[in-house]
Amino acid sequence: MHPMLTIAVKAARRAGSIINQASRNLDILNVSRKSHSDFVSEVDGAAEEAIIKVLLDAYPTHSILAEESGNRGDPRKSDYQWIIDPLDGTTNFLHGFPKYAVSIALLHRGILSQAVVYDPVSNELFTASRGRGAYLNDQRIRVSKRAQLADSLIGTGIPFRDLSFLEAYLGMFKDIIPKTAGIRRPGSAALDLAYVAAGRYDGFWEIGLSPWDIAAGCLLILEAGGMVSDLEGNENYMKSGQVVAGNPKIFVQLLQIIAPHLTPQLIAANKQSAS
Ligand code: IPD
Ligand code: CA
Ligand code: CA
Repeated sequence: MHPMLTIAVKAARRAGSIINQASRNLDILNVSRKSHSDFVSEVDGAAEEAIIKVLLDAYPTHSILAEESGNRGDPRKSDYQWIIDPLDGTTNFLHGFPKYAVSIALLHRGILSQAVVYDPVSNELFTASRGRGAYLNDQRIRVSKRAQLADSLIGTGIPFRDLSFLEAYLGMFKDIIPKTAGIRRPGSAALDLAYVAAGRYDGFWEIGLSPWDIAAGCLLILEAGGMVSDLEGNENYMKSGQVVAGNPKIFVQLLQIIAPHLTPQLIAANKQSAS
């Protein structure tokens, strides 16, 4: 295993044990609301601090972008930037709905190079290093081979925070539903992407994500032989948070269905984030 990935795994497992311990006493957690439908608990903060400590103890000069505490260090002064979501799926966690994960990725000169998505409930560890493939625990994983959308299971997420995208999203949803074998919306984008990498889903799309939701999951998919883009089929997904992913065949079919639903607002949001 690449040494930087080993450190990322150590950090993810440490966060996972904090999350697991807290999951036994959900009633006593301090929870606050960041914005509409956006909750944060003391566990998010504690897990994030634990991750950052492990990473910076090993690599003190690396910079950090973490969901709860923002930037640490200057990314322009370091070749390495860690992107951290300490608990992806907080709403699920707070409800005892067992679909959430720790997500840690490393950018090297702006290129995704290491990825960990760790599900502390199932103890499933998804990892990838650029050029070395993707793994679930010790097993190599690959995207599915399904070629027909009609046979495919598709993951998605509802843009429930920025409701201005809802109409366009529902148009896509309506169009995709009858063409697939089923749609799932468990509520952790990091896990959704890991499931595409593992071939559990054949494809996935979502609008309004943040870099920490998707950085690790996207590298997992690419290293598992899959494809990822923004809704227009370009590479701006990390910035715009508009993501389409899948095995190469289903990815193309999803993009085709989504294309007629791209509103000027969605295109502008993608363009704006690119500049
Ligand atoms: C959320 C989850 C969810 C997605 C949201 C994300 P959080 O992350 O990934 O699946 O639909 O857009 O914000 O807030 O639980 O870390
Ligand atoms: Ca998240
Ligand atoms: Ca989070």
